Amino acid sequence: MHHFEYKGDELFCEDVPVSRIASETGTPVYIYSSATLTKHFKVFDLSFKAVPHLVCYSMKANSNGAILNLFSTMGGGADIVSGGELYRALKAGIDPGKIVYSGVGKTSNEIDMALDAGILMFNVESEQELEKINQRAKNLGVCAPVALRVNPDVDPKTHPYISTGLKKNKFGINIEKSLKYYIHAQSMPNINIIGLDFHIGSQLTTLSPFIDALKKIKGLIQQLQNNGINIQYLDIGGGLGITYDQEKPPHPDEYARIIVEQMKDMNLKLIFEPGRVIVGNAGILVASVIYTKEGDTKDFLIVDAAMNDLMRPSLYDAYHNIIPVIKNDRSIKKVDIVGPICESGDFLAKDRQFNSAVQGDLIAVMSAGAYGFTMSSNYNSRTRAAEVMVKGDRYHIIRQRDVYEDMIKGESLPDWQ
Ligand code: LLP
Repeated sequence: MHHFEYKGDELFCEDVPVSRIASETGTPVYIYSSATLTKHFKVFDLSFKAVPHLVCYSMKANSNGAILNLFSTMGGGADIVSGGELYRALKAGIDPGKIVYSGVGKTSNEIDMALDAGILMFNVESEQELEKINQRAKNLGVCAPVALRVNPDVDPKTHPYISTGLKKNKFGINIEKSLKYYIHAQSMPNINIIGLDFHIGSQLTTLSPFIDALKKIKGLIQQLQNNGINIQYLDIGGGLGITYDQEKPPHPDEYARIIVEQMKDMNLKLIFEPGRVIVGNAGILVASVIYTKEGDTKDFLIVDAAMNDLMRPSLYDAYHNIIPVIKNDRSIKKVDIVGPICESGDFLAKDRQFNSAVQGDLIAVMSAGAYGFTMSSNYNSRTRAAEVMVKGDRYHIIRQRDVYEDMIKGESLPDWQ
C-alpha cells in the first residue's frame, strides 16, 4: 500500500485528490505521501529490531528538508556524500552523531565541516583520503572516526551505471588490500578506526549479492581481529530495490533475516544506508498534457514535465509506470510520453499503451520519490518543479517551484562587457 490510489475515477494521495494539488500548485509537481514515508522507514527499521542498528537514510535519493526532518523524528540518521548534504542534514535537525559520510572525493573543506559537526564516521574510499583526513583532524586537534569502505568485488546484477561493488568500479578499497590499509590507518595518530563499510550497488532485486558480500566481509573482519583491530560498526550500505514494473524485490524482512543470520554472534552495531526503498514508491510526479501530436509511426503526448524534472528514463532507460490522474475510457493508443526539451532523449516513457489524451489532461509518473527531484536541473532554463507533502486530508508545499529569478541568482556581467 503506497497511498496513491484511485477513489472512483480519481487518483488520490492519501485523502487528497491529486487533481486538487495540481490545480492549486500548478504542474509539474512532485507529491509525496507522509504515511508511506513513515511506513517505509518504520518497516525497514523494525525489521532489524533484534539487533543493535542505525538507519542512516541515504539522502541523495531525496534530500528535501521536510523529508529528512520526518525521518529524524523517527530516530533516523543520514548517509551523506557532500558538504551540501551535510548542510541540509544539519538544517533538517538530523543528529550529527548519526551521520555517516561516504564518497570518493571528499575535499579538505568538506572534511573540516564534517569534523566540526562531529559526525559518526567517515567511510574512507582511498589511501590518499585517509591521509587527508588524518592531516585535517590533526590541524583541528581532533581524532577522526573512520570506517574503510571495502569493495568486496561482487556483481549486484543491476544496471551498470548503479553497480558499485565490482573491482572495475571507482568505489571503495580493494578487499585484498584492505587489511594493509587498516594496519596503516591504525598507525595514524588522528584516525580512530571504528568501522567497516561496503555498498555494492542500487536497485538490487535479489539477496544473493548481499550474502556473497557479507561472507567475504566476515572473513576480513576475522583477519582484522587477528591483527588486533576491533571495529564496532559494520555499515552495509543501501541498495535494496523496489517495484517499478514487474520486479519482485525481497521485502525488508527477508533482507533483514539473511543479514541477521550472517551477522549474529559478530557483536557489531549494524548501519544501513537505504534510499530508494524508503522514498521511491512514496512519491509521484504529476504533469499536464500540453499537446498531443500524431507522428508517422506513433503518437506523442507532450507533457510539461521533462528530463530535467525526472532524468531516470533518459539516463538509465528506466521504466516508470504512468497513469491518468482521472481515469477515462477513451481508446488505448501506443504513445511516447515526452517533455518540451530540445533533445530526442527527453522522454518519460516510450511505446506505452495509454488512453488517448487531450490537452490539459493530468498524468502521474509513479515511483518517482527517489532520484527524481534530487537529480533535476534547470536545463533549457526550466524552473524546477514544486514539491508537496500530503498527510491525511492536508497538504503542504515543501518546496516552492523555482521562479525565474532563482535561475539567474549569482550570475553577473564581466566589467569589460
Ligand atoms: N550508500 C551509498 C554509498 C550509495 O552510493 C547509495 C546510492 C546508497 C547508499 C543508496 O542506495 P539505494 O538504497 O537508494 O539503492 N540515480 C540512480 C541511483 C544511484 C545510486 C547511487 N548510490 C537511480 O536513479 O537509479
